[in-house]
Amino acid sequence: MRAAPGPHTPSWPLGLDGIAYGGDYNPEQWPREVWDTDIALMHEAGVNLVSIGIFSWALLEPREGEFDFAWLDELIELLHAAGIRVDLGTPTASPPAWFFATYPQARVVTRDGTVLGFGSRGMAGPSSPEYRAASVRITTELARRYGQHPAIALWHVHNEYGAPVSDDYSPSSAAAFRAWLQDRYGTLDALNQAWGTAFWGQRYGEWAHVGAPSVAASAVNPAQRLDFARFTDHALRECYIAERDAIRAHSSVPITTNFMAASCPATDLWAWGREVDVVSNDHYLTAADEHPEVGLALAADLTRSVAGGKPWMLMEHSTSAVNWQPRNVAKRGGEMRRNSLSHLGRGADAILFFQWRASRSGAEKFHSAMLPHTGTSSRVWREVVELGAELGRLAPVLGSRTRADAAILWDWESFWAQDLEWRPSDDLDHRERVAAFHERMWRDGLTVDMAHPEDDLSRYPLVVAPASYLLTAAGAENLTRYVAGGGTLVVSYFSAVVDEFDAVHVGGYGAPLRDALGMSVEEFLPLRAGERVHVGWSGSELTGDVWADDIALAGADVVASYVDGPAAGRAAITRHTHGSGHGWYVSTRLDVAALAPVLAAAYRDAGITPPGLPEGVEVLHRESDHATFTVAINHRDEPVEIPATGTELLSGDTLTGALKVPAGAVRVVRTPR
Ligand code: GAL
Repeated sequence: MRAAPGPHTPSWPLGLDGIAYGGDYNPEQWPREVWDTDIALMHEAGVNLVSIGIFSWALLEPREGEFDFAWLDELIELLHAAGIRVDLGTPTASPPAWFFATYPQARVVTRDGTVLGFGSRGMAGPSSPEYRAASVRITTELARRYGQHPAIALWHVHNEYGAPVSDDYSPSSAAAFRAWLQDRYGTLDALNQAWGTAFWGQRYGEWAHVGAPSVAASAVNPAQRLDFARFTDHALRECYIAERDAIRAHSSVPITTNFMAASCPATDLWAWGREVDVVSNDHYLTAADEHPEVGLALAADLTRSVAGGKPWMLMEHSTSAVNWQPRNVAKRGGEMRRNSLSHLGRGADAILFFQWRASRSGAEKFHSAMLPHTGTSSRVWREVVELGAELGRLAPVLGSRTRADAAILWDWESFWAQDLEWRPSDDLDHRERVAAFHERMWRDGLTVDMAHPEDDLSRYPLVVAPASYLLTAAGAENLTRYVAGGGTLVVSYFSAVVDEFDAVHVGGYGAPLRDALGMSVEEFLPLRAGERVHVGWSGSELTGDVWADDIALAGADVVASYVDGPAAGRAAITRHTHGSGHGWYVSTRLDVAALAPVLAAAYRDAGITPPGLPEGVEVLHRESDHATFTVAINHRDEPVEIPATGTELLSGDTLTGALKVPAGAVRVVRTPR
């Protein structure tokens, strides 16, 4: 079983006794006199924390080895005098022009051989020795200078590792990949075995011939590509750790780096979560989604899980539209509050934005901000001020933990493997499956943690595995033990197919879960584009698409059979009793509505009773030793009433049994325990 996330510094950001509120602050984009206006307006908005210096490398080190901290000294003093705490960035996500001119070999090479140029942002190749040396040098200078400064509440290393730079096919990266492989496998024989190089005559006779999996004539060895994804994640993490350790030598202030849980595929955040003092995350709504609050919930649930259930920081979100989606839909009145408090209900103790003041120039000038181009006469500004005041009243929530009802498995390694070439169907989409099961549970009013297949799952009555394509023997044993011990496990199709080398499990698809599920899969039956199948369910029919399986039963009960399609008359959904628990298998793609009766049956096995909330209402519970905090978010256009007793923290009202939540509003109730 995997180790739980490591110890976190208990008090972060240092010196704050309420919810952190603020955002990225880039005053270097503005004349000096604007800074004083900013400080006054930050006070008006209740801002208590700003992130600075994130993209300032070119200003801080204008020529290699020459530093200019005068402007940053002044800025930090100004913020300190104003009582606004500082989250100090290391600027290594965007090296200066001189760096790339001096070290052209550090530029990232894409899989098809394109060498990335300057004029945007993006780090150099993560394995470039020149980049690593330069980033540790500027970080050390910052840590030496400000490491003991009383204004500094938190260190913000880099920005969003993995985006826009992740895999790099440059010579330095290929060399580092070889060294990583030598460390992982020891001998070439072991590597040949693990990668299955007997196939297509790929056997290696010399380490020097092993390279990064660049574009080739046809599909590239999937085990090699999977290892390259692991190596890339590792190389990025090494960059973080080098900076973190450089800071730690001069400062005891907590250190974080902002994750992009659920939107950056390159980083295995289960490993990253163990390296930071506090987990922080950036989240932006997908404007094209009809209900973007559901995707928000998934990202926030994943972030909380990466934090091991401890409170975390929302490092960035937006007050309104972003600038980088195909259609950048503006948030409407109240939406920013609902978003912010959904993050809070899901465990965030900090609500921060990108960014404080909208940029006039550059690629992000159409991105919303706390202070929009229009200034303080805007709706957004008014809502920013209101939210600041409300978060002030929510200080009692600080440190409490979100209660979860069930878990969904999430494994970046499995996703990397499933996304490779030549899978049985282009319509297989792990993200879609995870999101569908998560949305079903969101609609059923359940709060869900994400978990790794090798985690201790015993505290969850229900675990859902929507896309566990790569499942190690250890993971399968853990899940089997979980079921035997009384858990309810729901497994969706294309799971337990390969091991950690992307090699099909001995015994066939699903074999490692045969004991838990009482079945395995004899043959995949992917469906044609648009083809539908029907599954008989309690006198009615559920419609599936994308996939069917030819199931080989090994003790499971057939709960539902295919009415038509390639598996007509055969098992579609099975349920098996193993030990004191139950293992379910769902062999076709059911949409969120069609999943309802299936999960309802699994809830019954798990002893879960959904709260029966009106549709479009989220209710989250955070618990401390003394109280439960109920965050009720009404996404509907009409008021709702839910049961609650205690004190409503935003209004101070006392509730005796019922809470009214107006259309589009949020309420937070404190109930003593
Ligand atoms: C984030 C990034 C910020 C800003 C923001 C815009 O991913 O960290 O620097 O670019 O997106 O939405």
